[in-house]
Amino acid sequence: EPSTPVSRGAFIVIEGLDKAGKTTQAQKLCDTLYAQGHNVKTLRFPDRTTPIGRMINSYLENTTEMDDHAIHLLFSANRWERASYIKQQISLGTTIICDRYYYSGMVYSASKNNPALSLDWARSPEVGLPRPDRVIFLDLSAAEAEKRGGYGEEKYEKREMQERVRERFLGLTVRGGEESTDMTVIDAGSSVEEVAESILSDVAKVVRDVESGLRRELGT
Ligand code: TMP
Repeated sequence: EPSTPVSRGAFIVIEGLDKAGKTTQAQKLCDTLYAQGHNVKTLRFPDRTTPIGRMINSYLENTTEMDDHAIHLLFSANRWERASYIKQQISLGTTIICDRYYYSGMVYSASKNNPALSLDWARSPEVGLPRPDRVIFLDLSAAEAEKRGGYGEEKYEKREMQERVRERFLGLTVRGGEESTDMTVIDAGSSVEEVAESILSDVAKVVRDVESGLRRELGT
């Protein structure tokens, strides 16, 4: 008897400023989808557990200095080392909820006020990575983010940087191309439950489309 073909999983990315609630919301979304009977796993970038991830970690903790391009390529390489795992899991029917992806990669690097590092340049090493089915941008003003317990000691946790990052994230929605069509902006200023509900109502549609075969292959 031929086995029933398993539909692929969906690839969902949660993006936002530091303190926007990404990690909480990624976990909540994962739990909800799991309770509904889906196979689901979470992933996060940077993945600080690999050798490349450890280099990124020491840069973020201000232990190591690095050229802006070099650290950008390490963040990208840190995604590439997980690319085949993502594709494999998706093809086995597992939905992946990913906390940050190349949207953060492009936007943070391009927000460093380095004229030699444009958004276009920052996009190029990411070309060919698995394309998300949906990217949720949790939108919060830099001032609101700061109120949530303040920033820590890490590299980019400064008000001016966060403001530039937010502007560039929102800029992606009108820049054209797949970043514009793939991204949904959700106001992260309301309660954890309300934000979770908004995310779920958007993601549920995507998951349904994937499962019914409306979205066939995972793009690149
Ligand atoms: P995290 O706090 O989510 O672990 O992210 C660490 C910092 O790294 C955060 O400020 C965003 C930044 N970042 C990049 O600059 N480029 C990237 O590609 C990623 C994934 C994160």
